[in-house]
Parts: sequence; C-alpha cells; structure tokens
Amino acid sequence: MEKRKLTVPEMLERKQRGPKLRMITAYDYPTALMVDRSPIELILVGDSLGMAVLGYAGTVPVTMEDMLHHLRAVVRGAPNTFVIGDMPFGSYNEGPAQAIRNANRMLKAGADAVKLEGGMVVAPTVKAMVDGGIPVVGHIGLTPQTATMLGGFKVQGKDLASARRLLEDALALEEAGAFMLILECVPAPLARLITSKLRIPTIGIGAGPHCDGQVLVFHDLVGLFDRFVPKFVKQYAFLQKEISRALAEYAREVEEGVFPGPEHSFSINEEVLKELE
Ligand code: KIV
Repeated sequence: MEKRKLTVPEMLERKQRGPKLRMITAYDYPTALMVDRSPIELILVGDSLGMAVLGYAGTVPVTMEDMLHHLRAVVRGAPNTFVIGDMPFGSYNEGPAQAIRNANRMLKAGADAVKLEGGMVVAPTVKAMVDGGIPVVGHIGLTPQTATMLGGFKVQGKDLASARRLLEDALALEEAGAFMLILECVPAPLARLITSKLRIPTIGIGAGPHCDGQVLVFHDLVGLFDRFVPKFVKQYAFLQKEISRALAEYAREVEEGVFPGPEHSFSINEEVLKELE
C-alpha cells in the first residue's frame, strides 16, 4: 500500500488502538528519502543534528538557521512522512511571541509540527502556540538543551519528588494543547504511568517499552555515530565500520592504479584520437 502522511487525529487514535508509532531523526535529503520509503510514520529533524552532523559537543550552539537549512532538505525528501521541526535553544525561551515567530518559520519551511523542551514552565508558551494554530510536541525527562541544570545526561524521575514533577509536567503540556509528548530517559514504570494518564500519545527514548511509540537518533540506529552509545540505543547496523572499509579500499585502489578500471572510464573514437595526436 502507498505510504500516506499520518494526521494528528490518526496519531491520537493509534494511542487507543495501536499499532505503536515509529519516529526517527533525519537531517538531510538522502536520509529523508530512505525514511519516506520505510514504514516509519514520523521524522524528527532534531537539534541532535548539532552533535550528529555539525560536530558540536551538545545542542545549545544550534541555531534557527541551522534547523531551517536541514528541515528544508528533509521536507523535500519525505513528502509522505509527518515531519516535526525541533525548536533549538534560544528560539522560544523569551516567551510566546518569540516561540510563535520561530515556529511559524518552521511551518513555512515545511514542518508539520514543532517540538520544544520543558514542562510546566513552557506550558503557557505551548498554549499560546496551539491557540495560534501551531501543532506542538512536548519533550520532558532528560532535556538535552538544559542538561547542565539537570546535572548532566542522567535518567530523570527516579525519586518521588522528581517523578511527581514529571507527571505534572506531562499533564500540564497535555492541558496546554500539545498533541504528543516525548519522554527521554525516564524509568520504564514511570513512563508507563505517565502514558496511562494521558490522552495524547507518548513517544519514548530511553523510556522503556510502554510508551505509545519510540524514537531513536538515525545515526545511533545505523551505527554512524560512536563517540558514545547510550544504554537505550540499539544499533541495527554498523555503517561506520562499513564506510571506513570502503574508504580504505578506495584509497588503496587509487594508489595501486586499480581504480578507475576500464568499466569506469570513457572511450573516444580512435580516429579522433589519432588526428589529435
Ligand atoms: O534532538 C533530538 O534528536 C531529540 C530526540 C532525542 C528526541 O530531541
């Protein structure tokens, strides 16, 4: 069957009836093409591109211009997949007016929705965005843009007070009008509880199997990024190894004169060549 972009009401329906939702990050046109040809329903153009493709140590340096550049490439490659644009650090922390202005830029670049990090504190901003007609995905738990304040890249919600706060954050975002919520690095039983308390679907990353869907970073899933591999990542391929092998073989064949062979070269009429010589 031909793939068709999922609608927001269909995503809400999937929470009730399944099957689980599948999301993956993508940052460029060829990856978007591959995802578009797969059964995966959702693409997140995540600010994780700061680490995965721009070589930063974290997500804070990523700008709106970086995000829009990558978002446009992904949108061109994935016409049949729901694309979520991630709002980078500094694009919404001044409040609703700034958030709406930057979210509008993402929607005009082709995003179907935007995502931002934070719980109760950003709920009024989320409400203003939704009231303005912007579909918003929330993101709580480990929120990489503010990881320093969370004490680093650590599992969140392990004690009663922080678990209760995460549940309240989730409810506040749903109340504000978010249509989906990403739970990052929270204990699986807490993710199950939050999922059961919400009408909107939860998408987990390091949040166990009970969420309504899962998301992984593309470069982690295919083994393209091995600066560190978090516990929650499953590598379904080891492309870095394969690409390194291909590069070494190319280098050797050029050095030895094996590449390019006759099958990779163009010929010319002998008469023309003789005349020229
Ligand atoms: O930027 C990103 O890729 C994300 C996911 C890890 C959820 O926010």
